[in-house]
Amino acid sequence: MSATKTNRTTNAKLLAWVEEMAELCQPKDIYWCDGSKEEFDRLCEQMVEAGTLIRLNQEKRPNSFLARSDPDDVARVEHRTFVCSEKEEDAGPTNNWIDPAEMRKTLNGLFTGSMRGRTMYVIPFSMGPLGSHIAHIGVQLSDSPYVAASMRIMTRMGQDALDVLGDGEFVPCMHTVGAPLEPGQEDVVWPCNETKYIVQFPEERAIWSYGSGYGGNALLGKKCFSLRIASVMARDEGWLAEHMLILGLESPKGEKTYVAAAFPSACGKTNLAMIIPPEGFEGWKVSTVGDDIAWIKPGKDGKLYAINPEAGYFGVVPGTSYHTNPTAMKMMERDTIFTNVALTDDGDVWWEGKDGETPEHLIDWRGNDWTPDSDTPAAHPNARFTCATSQCPTFDPAWEDPNGVPISAFIFGGRLTHTFPLVFQAYNWQHGVYLAATMGSEATAAAVNQAAIRRDPMAMLPFAGYNMADYWSHWLEMESKLENPPKIFRVNWFRKDENGDFLWPGFGENMRVLQWIAGRVNGNAEAVESPLGWMPRHQDINWSGLDFPEKTFAEIMDINTAEGRAEAESQKELFDSFGNRLPDEMEAERQALIARLEAAPPVWRVAAE
Ligand code: GTP
Ligand code: SPV
Ligand code: MN
Repeated sequence: MSATKTNRTTNAKLLAWVEEMAELCQPKDIYWCDGSKEEFDRLCEQMVEAGTLIRLNQEKRPNSFLARSDPDDVARVEHRTFVCSEKEEDAGPTNNWIDPAEMRKTLNGLFTGSMRGRTMYVIPFSMGPLGSHIAHIGVQLSDSPYVAASMRIMTRMGQDALDVLGDGEFVPCMHTVGAPLEPGQEDVVWPCNETKYIVQFPEERAIWSYGSGYGGNALLGKKCFSLRIASVMARDEGWLAEHMLILGLESPKGEKTYVAAAFPSACGKTNLAMIIPPEGFEGWKVSTVGDDIAWIKPGKDGKLYAINPEAGYFGVVPGTSYHTNPTAMKMMERDTIFTNVALTDDGDVWWEGKDGETPEHLIDWRGNDWTPDSDTPAAHPNARFTCATSQCPTFDPAWEDPNGVPISAFIFGGRLTHTFPLVFQAYNWQHGVYLAATMGSEATAAAVNQAAIRRDPMAMLPFAGYNMADYWSHWLEMESKLENPPKIFRVNWFRKDENGDFLWPGFGENMRVLQWIAGRVNGNAEAVESPLGWMPRHQDINWSGLDFPEKTFAEIMDINTAEGRAEAESQKELFDSFGNRLPDEMEAERQALIARLEAAPPVWRVAAE
């Protein structure tokens, strides 16, 4: 079939590229996605017949499906992810780099004939509202129907995106699962390849992904485009592409504050984005703009405006319950694709941490019988749900506003069991950039072969498409474009006591911290100066509806200055790795922190102030 025979587009560059890629990959046919509901239903039906999807009990989960991936294809593969800039130093020490010419040769070899026996789907999509001046168009070519269906949920996908593209520029996103079918060869339910390459060419603004069908490896609009490639566009054009949720806080007086928050993967962005204010917060409303990615641009008024470029959620399922995230639970009630959760005997889904009793019998994520005595989890820890943003009961009225929402605060947080208090505020923009740059967290499912704790600057370690030190410089330079830059905060929901128990109840109770943050932004919350930054005293937080002892508050806010100094010392290794690309401001902030800690008592206690 010739790709040029389509009447879907007249974009010569697109037609030529599709033709060229079809020659390379040799698919059995080419299918141009229109993005319709009929098409989505058809793709799902085909996948049900092929065994890739299991249709769930229509009464319990209408229009929902379960997919089980290959056990070796369950998360992003950071050690197989490459930023192939022309010069190695432009990728920087935190990215894997291979000479782009060499990488092109490797990929050409791998992609040759890689789609034999399969359909090549042409998947046009818009990141951001269709036609919006801040949106960008991509076209993904993929041999995975699971990817085509998922892209319809995660992005504005189909003919509308092609129409908006017209004869314009698009980001080419090549994807194959790398499992060609020989004539007569029977397919497997989740084709993939042991060899995996997730490759970004930042100068060319192109993406090539080989061997995986899972999540950010395969839904190329997400991390590959909206973060790695977009962060390069953002550097060149003066904006920010960030691994952040966006939420709106409305006080009982109707005062609305939008905040954007960066947490590493699997550290609670989805939870916070959909937070329900707890008891004691009557009249407060929280609304969701996004849970994973924010594109943030300076407006003419000197404020920063953020959009969520995605149209769907691809959220972690295990641990989700009516206690931890009632909003997500409601979203998943229908029209959802689940991947790698367990199947119940009555055709519903189950996962660790779900409300109610553990079923006596399940089929686990690998397709095996499972009982509560089994010693492996029933759902994979990185099991995910895919569903449309429009299904979110708390979506913000402006979530599709092409102009975005004005951001008043940035929040940065990692998973840190000690040293770091519940919340503190940076003294200023530069100090905030330093606090964001030095954040760290425990490793996640995608970060195999890594130490347990790792630095994750701005939660962008695996996603910055260029040298991380240049990215910090870009953040520092943004200040000059802004009139009243957003206030910057660090939070830590994960501090533990000496018994290893979380000191902070978290989840809905994080609202108390959000309220203080909104108060700081709007000039109606107090704080005291500590060696780390501005901190709330016990009386500065709204405790209504929660019995949280003042003693525990002291414990969770304590600054052990020896621990703090050790932390500051250990940041040196990160800074040194960037050589002369490191902005001087970063080292100056580190020295200033050390000096403040040296001048402080062994335990600086906010309660004593
Ligand atoms: P990606 O989608 O991977 O980018 O991650 P995310 O940041 O959206 O992660 P997600 O919201 O799925 O993180 C869920 C994990 O964070 C679960 O292990 C939760 O238990 C944990 N979590 C979220 N909020 C809290 C909290 O307030 N306290 C504690 N202790 N854990 C939390
Ligand atoms: C993450 O790992 O940060 C995710 C999931 O949001 S994935 O889309 O697979 O990257
Ligand atoms: Mn993410």
